[in-house]
Amino acid sequence: MLTSRDVLEGYVTDWTRRYRGTAACVVAPGSAAEVAEVVRACARRDAPIVPQGGNTGLVGGSVPGQAGRAGPRGEAGTRGPTVVLSTRRLRRLEPVDVVAAQVTAGAGVTIAELDAHARLAGFGYGVDLGSRDSATVGGTIATNAGGVHAVRYGYTRAQLLGAEAVLADGSVLSHLAGLTADNAGYDLAGLLAGSEGTLGVITAARLRLWPAETALVVMLTGVAGIAAAAALFAEIRGTTGRVRAAEYFEAAGVALVGKVAGLPLPLAREYPAYLLVEAAGADAAQQLAELPQLADAAVAVDRAGRARLWAYRERHTEVISAAGIPHKLDVAVPMSELGAFRAALATATMPHKLIVFGHIGAGNVHVNVLGPDPDDERVDEAVLRLAAAHGGTVSAEHGIGRAKVRWLHLSRSGEEIAAMRAVKSALDPSGLLNPGVLF
Ligand code: FAD
Ligand code: MLT
Ligand code: ZN
Repeated sequence: MLTSRDVLEGYVTDWTRRYRGTAACVVAPGSAAEVAEVVRACARRDAPIVPQGGNTGLVGGSVPGQAGRAGPRGEAGTRGPTVVLSTRRLRRLEPVDVVAAQVTAGAGVTIAELDAHARLAGFGYGVDLGSRDSATVGGTIATNAGGVHAVRYGYTRAQLLGAEAVLADGSVLSHLAGLTADNAGYDLAGLLAGSEGTLGVITAARLRLWPAETALVVMLTGVAGIAAAAALFAEIRGTTGRVRAAEYFEAAGVALVGKVAGLPLPLAREYPAYLLVEAAGADAAQQLAELPQLADAAVAVDRAGRARLWAYRERHTEVISAAGIPHKLDVAVPMSELGAFRAALATATMPHKLIVFGHIGAGNVHVNVLGPDPDDERVDEAVLRLAAAHGGTVSAEHGIGRAKVRWLHLSRSGEEIAAMRAVKSALDPSGLLNPGVLF
């Protein structure tokens, strides 16, 4: 248990610095049984619990609300002291089951550690994201993280074959056999995916692995804008073996990466926007080279060259954060709406600085706005309403957290929200787990 003010600071402030709350202590149990004891002790004191993994979440869900502050960014009413439950010590990592292509991992194992472990056995983990060195198995399940390889392997929920979790009453659910043929009732692990710490504390998971892919190629090219990037991606998907990533970014982001991280322009000249594609397979490099549209492209097949090209995309998050406290609005719209949505975005976010990038293969657009005060939610409202008006969602992969509670209704019907609330009150009737998040 940690109580020192200085140490607590790192656990009550989120990665973006936009969300900061108060907690009495951080508790880091070392097993599911210890998690259950902590949960029962908190239940007796009516002390709200905020489960926390790597604290890389981008919607304020991993940190407590502000004491005494009602509404979505705080917790209404007076309750016991808030406890941050860190999963950092839940570090079980079992040998890879090479026949089943599965592994059981503790909630506190990072995605980089999980992937490195899988690689030693000739596999890889299907979810990869820029926060891989800190983001955890538990946190990525709780947010149903997408990431750069979702276009090939799907979101975290698609990797999840079972889970161990502690519910609000201290009971431990454990379903880690990894049977892929298993239709005996509700998919409780699937329910925990995307639950953002509101239904249970995930302590371990049984995860699907994929055969490690070889002959990787990364291609970066200039495009006129987001609609052109989507069209080019569709073309590449039709002609190139195994597309593992299709990422979009723009001149404003590249300029910031250049200024803050010191990278030179990626291509011979500047373009309004860029498409980065990663593909696998012996023919992939040749297939990409034969695309007539690629007049100016950088292609890399060696590890260092691929990393050099990826840096233009992956360093966006860090350089935006270095420039200020961004309003990070992770939305998705149908592929056919990307162009119209992007055009309207410019007006909706004026006069602020706008940086747009994202996972184009999924229609997932990361809208980053620099300038407005962190507490000023007008631009958030405008962008989220715009996404909904274009048939999109207010959260593509980051979740609702504390940041988007007010706008959940834009993406979910009243009936859906009522069903979600019924699940929440059945499993956590006193609202012990992550109050103020999601609802
Ligand atoms: P935390 O931030 O600690 O928590 C996130 C949420 O999960 C909170 O609501 C928390 O209460 C809950 N939670 C955490 N652990 C548990 C548990 N064991 N049981 C129950 N609930 C739990 N996200 C993407 O989807 N795709 C990306 O490409 C991506 N790239 C990123 C790049 C950078 C540089 C950064 C900083 C973030 C990125 N993210 C991305 C966001 C973030 O990394 C993910 O949301 C990730 O899943 C959070 O994992 P975490 O362990 O840090 O969880
Ligand atoms: C990404 O795709 O890089 C992440 O989702 C992080 C971000 O949105 O900044
Ligand atoms: Zn992302």
